[in-house]
Amino acid sequence: MSGLPEPLADGLWTVERRFRTMGLPVSSRGTLVRLPDGGLVVINPPRLDRPLREAVDWLGWPAHIVCPNRFHHLFAGDWKKAWPSARLWAPAGLEDKRRDLIFDARLGRQPPPWDPVLATLPIAGMPRLSEVWFLHRASGTLIVTDLAARVGARQPWFLRAWSRLNGAGASGRVGSAAWLRLLVADADALAASLNAAVGQCPQQLVVAHGDPMADGVVPALRRALSRLSPAFGHAT
Ligand SMILES: [Fe+2]
Repeated sequence: MSGLPEPLADGLWTVERRFRTMGLPVSSRGTLVRLPDGGLVVINPPRLDRPLREAVDWLGWPAHIVCPNRFHHLFAGDWKKAWPSARLWAPAGLEDKRRDLIFDARLGRQPPPWDPVLATLPIAGMPRLSEVWFLHRASGTLIVTDLAARVGARQPWFLRAWSRLNGAGASGRVGSAAWLRLLVADADALAASLNAAVGQCPQQLVVAHGDPMADGVVPALRRALSRLSPAFGHAT
């Protein structure tokens, strides 16, 4: 884990960063997508320090800072401070949770300016999570935050233990935490959103917790998310 952006496709990088939550080591992976004008869309802004800031400046300039669900917002303010002209995007409900941040736009409310490069795929039926997935159109890369994880030996010990405890596993397979089921308010809407997302035929998968994968993305997601959405898991 270099802690610096690593290329995954042309105009697409991910950066996995370690940090501590309540004193315990975890990691989270952010994604940077370059737009035609050189602006960057930063999805799940990771822990920012000077080396990462300098590396990002080499790639372009953050034009959009995107919190992809109601849980992943910890470092968004640091990114906004570092690049004040960037627009800060929130999923539904995050504005109420982070009143200290001034959000410029809401995901899913208006067509985002990055749409030609990056499809925005809000996942319905789980309003207490409000996760939004993205698809980098040119490479077919699906960018997921918490609904799926792929934790393995490279991740910090506490994240592995936590993932195992939550039923998402820590063997490098795509998994999904059992407790997410508690957040499902509308199973049909959830299944419809998940089906719409995999209907885009993703070829690669990026998750916030764990490593990207490049093969068998759709069957892996159906298997992992079947506990969350049986209707999605059983679809063929
Ligand atoms: Fe998370």
